[in-house]
Amino acid sequence: MTKNNPIGLFDSGIGGTTIWREVHKLLPNEDTIFIGDQLNAPYGIKTQSEIIALSLKNVECLLQLNCKLIIIACNTATTNAIKEIRQQFQVPIIGIEPAIKPATSLTKTSTIGVLATKGTITSDLFSSKLKLYPNVKIIEQIGYNIVNLIESGKTNTPEMRALLKEYLDPMIAQGMDTLVLGCTHYPYLKPILTELLGDSITIIDSGKAVAKQTKNVLQDLDLLNNKTSIGKCLFYTNTDTTILQSFLDDGDIAEYKNF
Ligand code: SIN
Repeated sequence: MTKNNPIGLFDSGIGGTTIWREVHKLLPNEDTIFIGDQLNAPYGIKTQSEIIALSLKNVECLLQLNCKLIIIACNTATTNAIKEIRQQFQVPIIGIEPAIKPATSLTKTSTIGVLATKGTITSDLFSSKLKLYPNVKIIEQIGYNIVNLIESGKTNTPEMRALLKEYLDPMIAQGMDTLVLGCTHYPYLKPILTELLGDSITIIDSGKAVAKQTKNVLQDLDLLNNKTSIGKCLFYTNTDTTILQSFLDDGDIAEYKNF
């Protein structure tokens, strides 16, 4: 693997582009390849063995494209399949888990909320992380149907607003002052979430932390690209590219393909 090889990212759909954006912002000279497995989205309602099989296929695809490091830009795939991915492939792998640790340092009411998919919340990895914070009340909420709506381009709609209100109101009533977005699709909901939660509830996602970790890992392995030009960014999907393109706005640096 050389410094000039691209960074690979995959997600069940367009959510991982929130991670790609942070990585591209921090490491603009790196080439990146993003795979959105939109045909199989959402992963959050699939069985663990289905999530593992799809995740392994995505990593294989990114390795065929010569990626030097893989970011699992999906909480559901990380919490259900990172162990199998690491066992099967030698390349450095970075995963994403709900950012509970920073939330526990920020909360003043000792009550945090985690909104994530069923696949993430019911995973063994997620339950084992919760046990690390016995002094904080952690309210878990499964975001049924949120990813489906985002993947159909219905992000900023009355339907989404009503759904989020249904999930968040009970969490607010229990004293939540920090909300962890445990799915990479959810940062696209920040405008509605801010409206529903007001200023007194902090929203946390993992994008910047993952970008920083990617930089550190590449630095440690001496794999940081030393080009000075802006990296080439390829976006692959296995459905029509329209929805994916509508979530990105990078003009001539982005290229869209089918896989
Ligand atoms: C999903 O496909 O259900 C969402 C992926 C995620 O957890 O980030």
